[in-house]
Parts: sequence; C-alpha cells; structure tokens
Amino acid sequence: MFISFEGTEGVGKTTLIGKLFEHFQTQGKDVVLTREPGGTPLAEQIRGLLLSVNHDEQMSHDTELLLMYAARAQHLDRVILPALAEGKIVLCDRFTDSSFAYQCAGRGLSREKLQLLNENFVSRMPDLTFWLDAPIELGMTRARERGALDRFEQEKVAFFASVRSGFAEIHTREPERMKRLDATQSPEQVFAEALSYLAECV
Ligand code: TYD
Repeated sequence: MFISFEGTEGVGKTTLIGKLFEHFQTQGKDVVLTREPGGTPLAEQIRGLLLSVNHDEQMSHDTELLLMYAARAQHLDRVILPALAEGKIVLCDRFTDSSFAYQCAGRGLSREKLQLLNENFVSRMPDLTFWLDAPIELGMTRARERGALDRFEQEKVAFFASVRSGFAEIHTREPERMKRLDATQSPEQVFAEALSYLAECV
C-alpha cells in the first residue's frame, strides 16, 4: 500500500506520519517512511538545490518543476517501486499532488506540463492520500517557530492560499483517493481520523 501526505507548511504532516509509522510497526507490518523531494541520496541532493535560497540567481518555475520530477523519478525507481514490489507499506511525505498545488496552482504553471510529466514519469500513484488542511496563517506561524525559512516557506500568504486551493481542487476531483483531515485538531484527533479512513481501505 502506498500512502502519501499532503498539505501546506506547518500543518503537522511529520507528526502524523510518525504516528502512523509506529502504528504499522507495532502491527508487525513492513513499513517504509520516505519524503519528497528527496528519499534517496541523489534526490536529497536535488532537494538541497530546491530548498536553498540563492540570492544571486532566481530559480525559474520550469526548473523548479523539472527538478521536482528528476528527484521523483529517482525516488520512484530506487525506493518506492522496489518497496511496493516487496509488499511493504510506503508512507511518503508529499508526492505529485504537491507539484499540482505548488507548481501549478501556486506558481501558475500549466496543467498540461504537469500532466505530461505524470503520464511519462509517474507509473504509480498513491492508493490513499491524506490532505492535512488548516488555515494558512496557522501553518505559517508553526513554520516560523521551527527556525530559518526555506525557499518555499519564504513565500507570502497569497501563494499559500493558492496552494491550498490547489489541494482542495484535487480533493474535489478525487475524493476516493484523497481524504481531507482537519489539521486544526490535536495531533491525537488527526491520527484517529486517519486511522478511521485506513480501516475503510483495508
Ligand atoms: P517539506 O520539507 O515536506 O515541507 P514542510 O515540511 O515545510 O511541509 O517539502 C519541501 C517543500 O517542497 C515544500 O515547501 C513543498 C515543496 N514541494 C513542491 O513545491 N513541489 C513538490 O512536488 C514537492 C514534493 C514539494
């Protein structure tokens, strides 16, 4: 089973993924925890390029999209597909929905570009996606409390509002795959809600 976790900054994805990872482990399941962009040494190097702030040269939106997919191709090939083939559960912090929300809805790149990449380079979509949704201000405050902001976190409220509407659009389009979790709740409540969806799936 392939499960991805989506949402804007600071909505508590990491906490939920950690809880689910432990949950599956105590059940004796073979579970892999990974993230995007990243998840392999090479893809983590690409992540470094994507998140670092370079004041000398601004990254173009197309470059950003292609680097996301370069990292994803490597991650799928080296980690996700082999783990699924071995019958493991894969928990992935962000996947293609982030590309739609950030690069299309946020940056304004065309859906056609993304579709072309998905059709050609993404042979496996998640079986289930949890979208942790909360008002932008809440997440931004949490992200700021974590320390220095990365290249994405430095964006303004308007950008994240567009990103959030991108996730909402996918949720409307694919309600079977994407489940919305109210991320204003306590971590325990979010975890309980996620477990109830999982019970429906298995
Ligand atoms: P992540 O470290 O998961 O962010 P956070 O922990 O703050 O939620 O992800 C890094 C950033 O990469 C995040 O701001 C979203 C962005 N991103 C995209 O823009 N497109 C993508 O396809 C992916 C996977 C991530």
